[in-house]
Amino acid sequence: MIGRLNHVAIAVPDLNAAVRLYRDTLGAMVSDPLDLPDHGVTTVFVDLPNSKIELLHPLGTDSPIAGFLVRNPAGGVHHICYEVQDIRVARDKLVADGMRILGDGEPKIGAHGKPVLFLHPKDFLGTLVELEQV
Ligand code: CO
Repeated sequence: MIGRLNHVAIAVPDLNAAVRLYRDTLGAMVSDPLDLPDHGVTTVFVDLPNSKIELLHPLGTDSPIAGFLVRNPAGGVHHICYEVQDIRVARDKLVADGMRILGDGEPKIGAHGKPVLFLHPKDFLGTLVELEQV
């Protein structure tokens, strides 16, 4: 069902410092910051030859990653994103298998303008998993 690894997301306490690290120290191509008010985050995408890294920073007062950064003040891997062909077909299969979808279970438009869902980390080896329809 799942396809390519689309990205690994890292929550960061200082977005400018994270951009400098990936752009200047690691020599990667990085995007401009993009505010996603619906998701409560500002994102920067790092382009790698075979995948992407998503740098996440809290946006607004009740960002879903604020608590994560309290528990991980230096930052840390927040989620991984797999591609799927049809997000509703994927969701229905997972729900039928007893897996939990976060939120209301309806896909939202993610950072790339495509539908995404998040799966409960307790059902996926302690890892927050994002599915993105491509
Ligand atoms: Co993501």
